[in-house]
Parts: sequence; structure tokens; C-alpha cells
Amino acid sequence: MRLLVQLTSPSPASETPTAPSVTFTLDGETVEVADDGISLLEALRDLLGKKTPKDGCSPQGQCGCCTVWVDDAARVACVTPVRRVAGRRVTTLDGLDPAERRRWAEAFTATGASQCGFCTPGIIMRLAALGRRKPVVDEGDVRTALLAHLCRCTGWCSVLEAARRAYQTTAVPPDAPRDLVAAARRAGIEGATDQSVGPHVALGGGGFAEDTAPADALVAVPDGHGGWVVAESLAGARARAGKVQGRNSTVAVGHPLAVAPGPWDLELRTTFTEPGYLEPDASWCEPGGTAASPLANGGAFGGKRASPVTDAARRLADEYGRCVRVVMAREDVVGTRPKRPPMAAGVGHDGRGVVRVARTPGSGTLDDWVGALRQVLPEVTVEEVVVPGPPVDGGLRGAGWVEATVLAAALDARRGGRVGPGQEVTVVSRQGGRVTAAVAADGAVTLRVAAGTVLDEVVLRSYAVGAAHQALGWVRSEGVAVDPDGAVVDLTIRSFGTRRARYRPTVVVVGVFDGGPRVAAAAAVGGGGPAAAWLAAGLPPDWPVDRGGR
Ligand code: FES
Ligand code: FES
Repeated sequence: MRLLVQLTSPSPASETPTAPSVTFTLDGETVEVADDGISLLEALRDLLGKKTPKDGCSPQGQCGCCTVWVDDAARVACVTPVRRVAGRRVTTLDGLDPAERRRWAEAFTATGASQCGFCTPGIIMRLAALGRRKPVVDEGDVRTALLAHLCRCTGWCSVLEAARRAYQTTAVPPDAPRDLVAAARRAGIEGATDQSVGPHVALGGGGFAEDTAPADALVAVPDGHGGWVVAESLAGARARAGKVQGRNSTVAVGHPLAVAPGPWDLELRTTFTEPGYLEPDASWCEPGGTAASPLANGGAFGGKRASPVTDAARRLADEYGRCVRVVMAREDVVGTRPKRPPMAAGVGHDGRGVVRVARTPGSGTLDDWVGALRQVLPEVTVEEVVVPGPPVDGGLRGAGWVEATVLAAALDARRGGRVGPGQEVTVVSRQGGRVTAAVAADGAVTLRVAAGTVLDEVVLRSYAVGAAHQALGWVRSEGVAVDPDGAVVDLTIRSFGTRRARYRPTVVVVGVFDGGPRVAAAAAVGGGGPAAAWLAAGLPPDWPVDRGGR
């Protein structure tokens, strides 16, 4: 079959139908697209309707979500000009041999290696290519291959297990029967939003608004001044908006607040930290309709609580009388969406002290942050200090409660002489979930988790491990640099400081399930994990403690 796709908009000039065309083979079919300088990813998603390659950072080439095969090699499609694949074979996850695709999807589902599923199609394409190239693949090969990818949800352990399972040449013994409805209920508890679990998620079908929008929808992108640029295509809208591509700078991550003077036993300063969800904010709406949720199959760690895309989609659809799809690029997300508020705390052995929290111009109230902090440290004085910086949100995952829990656990450990690697910390979350966490000298993490009736052990473990990795990232490596005016200077997805698969420690989860109320294990791990990691590091006063180690 030969499929000819042309852009329909008469403007800008780059979208004229006189553009030369490129012909290549896509998942076994010959296709031809107009080449006006677009990337392979733009051609695949917007012109050819292939939604399994995802756009997590285009055209940064840093998240791996858009990975496809060109001939038989894994390539990130967002930095591949479509003209470079002229006459070649392009394979997406949709075009993978069905038996191979099923094997990978089942391996990811069986191990809990796909939560939101946004990163998974790209990872599968990378690992499947590796398996074809090497008759024997070891864990080092997999970790190296995963350097090209980011996953925010899972913490990599389950991805390594999925790879091991999928590469296994002998028959995998059948799993015990699994109730995927119960699994989804556990995922919903952990992610604080409705979720589904199954091979369809691993195959990229988590229901992302960017994938479900009608093909003929107008596309709106931020104009950089609080408004939106609307065009017939994503490439056209971005061209008109003058999209600024993210870059890496040498600006160091700083600490906007000083600790209040005082005779403190413990001090801690944190910085602006990105929630780090991988699927950029997106929505779409028909005129007079209800806007599609930007959450899809995950809660974005609270980072999309007040995403502007739904209101914009609704308003623009009414204004234009057509369906409008609203899309933020990675640079928009990093530059304008909320961060965890930085803080600076000084606390004495009696739990009294001063905690300063940063509020930036344009950010909302931090009452929820302060309230969460006071649940754990009722005796501290809280000072809100206005500083230049990106928006902050006190409602991001565990914000305020995590910092207070870490301080309280560290005070307790210092009193008992229990500071250093391997020291256990037990934490009970606000909902009643309990974790005992320890971080060994070699970085290995052990978690004993009690979160009520399990519902599905694979999912519970996956979320606990993912929460541990995120929480350890807050302590060790994460933060975004800002300039003196408070603008985020590093707009790339790698600049968050999320640790890559190669550097991820082993995480062992030992379930202690008690049949009590079903609560999120991840919430408790979000407090116990960083407390144990900070103790292991010796309680240095500034997070991140090992920025260079990412
Ligand atoms: S979208 Fe291509 S690497 Fe991120
Ligand atoms: S499952 Fe990897 S980013 Fe969500």
C-alpha cells in the first residue's frame, strides 16, 4: 500500500504543498510524506498516525521515548530528519513481529516495568534491537542500552527484570493467575488517580491525550508570553511560536534560602526540583466539549494539578469552532510548570526551629506545604520567603511532609547515634502506610512496606521501588538551575538530575502486608527513602548531596 500524506495548512511557507517528498517503508508499507524539514518523529506521529513513538523531549534527543528502528538499528526519531530515512525501513513498535511484541509487552506487565507506559515503547524497541544484535545479552548490556532512556515511574529495577525475562531463551514458567483489575486498583491507590494495568499499557496505549486527539484537530502551543499559537500542525505551530530548544548550561544548582541563625542540631537546604513526569502536558477538546485529561495513566506526581492545557483546549475549541489539541514541549514544562518549593531548615534536638520555604512570584499559597510540615514538626516556626524562581507547588508528591519527616527521622537517629550507611528508618505516612528503609554503603536500598491489602504484589513493589528512586534523587542528584532573575536556565530533560539506569542501586522490597486499610506504599517510601539516604550520606546540609554522580 502506498500512502501519500501532505500538510494541509496554506501557511507558513514551510507548509506549502510544493515541498519535496520522501518515500520510505514504514512497518512494512511504503509511505510518502512531504519533507519541509520535519523530523522523523513529526512525520510518524502527525502525518502517519503512528502513536507508539512518544514525544517526551523533542528535539532534544534525551529521553528515548521516540525510539524506533531505522533499518535494524534503534534511533531516536526526534533528532532524525525525515529525509535521512529516504528509501530505508522504519519500524515502530506497531510493526514489530507480533510474537516478539507480545513477549515484550507480557514481560513488562509481569514485572511491573510499565506504570504510565509513556517510556515503554521506546525502551522495548531499544532492547528488542539489542536482542537481535547480540545472541547473549547480559545485565551490563541492558544498563548501557538504557542510558539512552529515561523512566520516572519505575526506578529501573523492574525494567531490568523485564529484559531478563524477555531475553530468556528457555520457556518462562507460567505465572500464577493475576487479577489485572485488582492490579489497576493498587496502581490507582499508588498514583492517586485512575489507572489501568496490562500489556496495552506497555505497548503505549495508556490513553495519552497527545495520542487520542482527532487527526484533524488544530494544534496550539505556548507562545512564550502566556498565550497560545494555533496552527494546522504541531510543526507549524512550533515554527510560528519560535520554539526555543533546550540547552545544557554550566550554571550550578543553587539554594535560594539561607538557614535562619540559631543553635541548631540539624540544618537542611533544598533547591527547586522538577516533578519530572515524562509525558508533557497535553489536552484536546471539541467545541462545547469536555477537555481530555492530561493525566492519562499516571498522576504526574501532582505536577499537573493545575495544568493550563485543559482550559486552553476548551477555550480555543470554542473560539475556533474546531477541535483543538494543546501541547506543551519539554522546554515549556521545565520553564513554566511548578517545582517543589526549596526550603532551609534549622532544627534543635527538641524539635523546635525555623523552617523557611521559598515562594516565587505568581505561585499560589503554600498552606498545604506548611500544614503537611506541621503535622510532623508542630513546634517549628515557618517563614515564607519570596524569592525569584519558577512557580512552586506545595501539593507536589509529599512536599512539606517529606522534608519534615526526614528532619524528624534524622534528629531521632542523631540522638541515638544511628547516622551512617545501613541505618534503618521507620516512617508512617499521613494515610497510615508504613515503611522501614535502609540504604547500604554500596547504595543498595531495602524497604519493608506495609500498605494494607496488597491487591497485586507486582504493582505494589513497582510503585515502592519507583518512589524510592525518586526520593533518593531528591537527596542525591536532582535540582534545576535558575538565573538571578529566577528563570530556569537548563531546559533539557537531562538537566533534572534524574539518575540513569546504570547508576541505579539495587532495591529490595520485602512485603509486610497486614490487611489493614489500603493506602499508598509510595507515599510512605517517599518519606522513609530519603531519610535513609540522608543518614547513609552522613547528613550533609545541602541537597542534592551528589549532583555530579548522576
Ligand atoms: S522525544 Fe526523542 S529522545 Fe525524547
Ligand atoms: S513507566 Fe516509565 S515514565 Fe512512566
